[in-house]
Amino acid sequence: MTIIHERPRAETTTSQGDDAAGALRAWVDQVAALTQPDHVVWCDGTDRERHEITQTLLDEGKLIRLNGEYRPGSYLARSDPADVARVESRTFICSKRREDAGPTNNWVEPGEMKRELIEHFDGAMRGRTMYVVPFSMGPVGGRLSKLGVELTDSAYVVLNMHIMTRVGSAALAQIDAGDDWVKALHSVGAPLIDEAGVRHDDVLWPSSPDKYISHFPEDREIWSFGSGYGGNALLGKKSFALRIASVIARDEGWLAEHMLLIKLTNPVGRTFHIAAAFPSACGKTNLAMLRSTLPGWSVETLGDDIAWLRQGEDGRLWAINPEAGFFGVAPGTAAATNPNAMETIWGNTVFTNAALTDDGDIWWEGMTKHAPEHLTDWTGASWKPGLGRPAAHPNARFTVAAAQCPSIADDWEAHDGVPLDAIVFGGRRASNVPLVVEARDWEHGVFIGATVASEQTAAAEGAVGELRRDPFAMLPFCGYNMADYWGHWLAVGERLGDRAPAVFNVNWFRKGEDGRFLWPGFGENIRVLKWIAERLEGEGAASESPLGLVPAAGALDLDGTDVTDSDLDALFAVDPAAWNAEADLTEQYFATFGDRVPAPLRRQLAQLRRRLG
Ligand code: GTP
Ligand code: MN
Ligand code: MN
Repeated sequence: MTIIHERPRAETTTSQGDDAAGALRAWVDQVAALTQPDHVVWCDGTDRERHEITQTLLDEGKLIRLNGEYRPGSYLARSDPADVARVESRTFICSKRREDAGPTNNWVEPGEMKRELIEHFDGAMRGRTMYVVPFSMGPVGGRLSKLGVELTDSAYVVLNMHIMTRVGSAALAQIDAGDDWVKALHSVGAPLIDEAGVRHDDVLWPSSPDKYISHFPEDREIWSFGSGYGGNALLGKKSFALRIASVIARDEGWLAEHMLLIKLTNPVGRTFHIAAAFPSACGKTNLAMLRSTLPGWSVETLGDDIAWLRQGEDGRLWAINPEAGFFGVAPGTAAATNPNAMETIWGNTVFTNAALTDDGDIWWEGMTKHAPEHLTDWTGASWKPGLGRPAAHPNARFTVAAAQCPSIADDWEAHDGVPLDAIVFGGRRASNVPLVVEARDWEHGVFIGATVASEQTAAAEGAVGELRRDPFAMLPFCGYNMADYWGHWLAVGERLGDRAPAVFNVNWFRKGEDGRFLWPGFGENIRVLKWIAERLEGEGAASESPLGLVPAAGALDLDGTDVTDSDLDALFAVDPAAWNAEADLTEQYFATFGDRVPAPLRRQLAQLRRRLG
């Protein structure tokens, strides 16, 4: 980096503004004194800056420029093989009291954690540049938006933050004007100058075996050390917009959720806004970009991963997508399954851990039916089909601006957000969970959300396929005690009253005895959305099941699919024995939260048992 953008002198006139600018500068100085970077660069979010950062990464060999004929303005990054996903075992919620972090989070006393982190951050940026990245989650100045500043020694992180958040002077001006902001400190933890003062060559993906993704909810601070990857390093995303924001939301009476956000339009032009929470790699990006197979029905994209929900003056729940881009799972993304995603990534995209074709484009498993004859795999090694290992990492990702999505809704940046009509929960369940169920009311909906279980995917470390509880798809992202979070959802529902969105549960992943998916999924999921919309209009027919309301016979539009009657039966089958066993597991799960589980949820469990008989 040759050009150092010095922070312009604050031009604010109010004393509050001077204080705010001073507080930011003092923090930057303090971190620089601790981490000892060669340079400090204040980011302005301009295209020029993005080009400079990109050029730096290209010069260092950390990005590969893709063939401009196929993928203009696009680049491939390859991570260290030990730094490919979120590290939940090294993610900490350091609230003052252990019980406020709850049994689902790793907890360390904040003073102790900061002492440990300061040792790691001491000199951590030697020989590197520290970037000061002011950003807004949500449109700058929006009613539900929040500000942050990430300090990072990774140019790759800056490049991704440029795409994923609103970086730059407008956010900085808001901070200077005195708005609250979140401190997000990040280092890859690989100084280029050692203790003896000797300078070392950089590696292509610097990182550290010692990783910490630490959150201090009371201080609204994030300290991330040792990883350069995704949710560990792009701190606006999981760390801020979910973990810290969920705590702010608890304190301020709103909700920060791991949800996609869409606008559904029916054939007479009525629109419905729907938010859906599925665990990582369970179909949010796909549903967010759904291309309808039903004439007259369409889906527009508002967000694919995170939604912030807040009651509006009209008493309804309003939602924004706080992000500006998509950090989507690459493998499985194909023209056949998610054409909108494929068209979104036509160019100006950063790919991480995808495979490289011999003519300079990217490829991953599932993109085409047959793999190219030869590739360079995500580790940089030569690859041919039949080697028995994937060419792209299963958690390979694309980073791309939301504005490039052909299905993006006109009002995706609306400052007040959109009013929500329905909330959908879901997971990856080979058995037991029906294709779609409607909750009887908000309280039942919270029970359904609280008891979501899903098969583990490659988005985090751990054994893929194992069933784990993932309440509200927030297990790795809730910044406080999960049982308190359920209580918060119940309290929000009480305030919403009859204005509350309807709640549903879906499962695209149920399998037949032969092991195949019973439901065609993807674009055909519009049929489930159609039934949901009809229910919202008071039209769609439903029948009672022990789990909630399911489509009455013939109410689910299956015209033109090859779903057989027996598939349909299997998709909605409720096995009381299996569900009683699940209820036992739920009781055990609730017990891990002790007496913090809200009474309404225990009541819901008892009612479920009664209905199961
Ligand atoms: P994060 O971005 O990690 O939070 O995950 P996500 O929820 O956005 O997951 P994504 O949409 O990227 O889906 C991940 C995987 O689910 C891919 O392998 C998809 O092919 C698969 N998938 C998505 N929708 C469907 C569906 O309707 N049916 C089936 N069978 N698979 C699906
Ligand atoms: Mn996610
Ligand atoms: Mn996604």
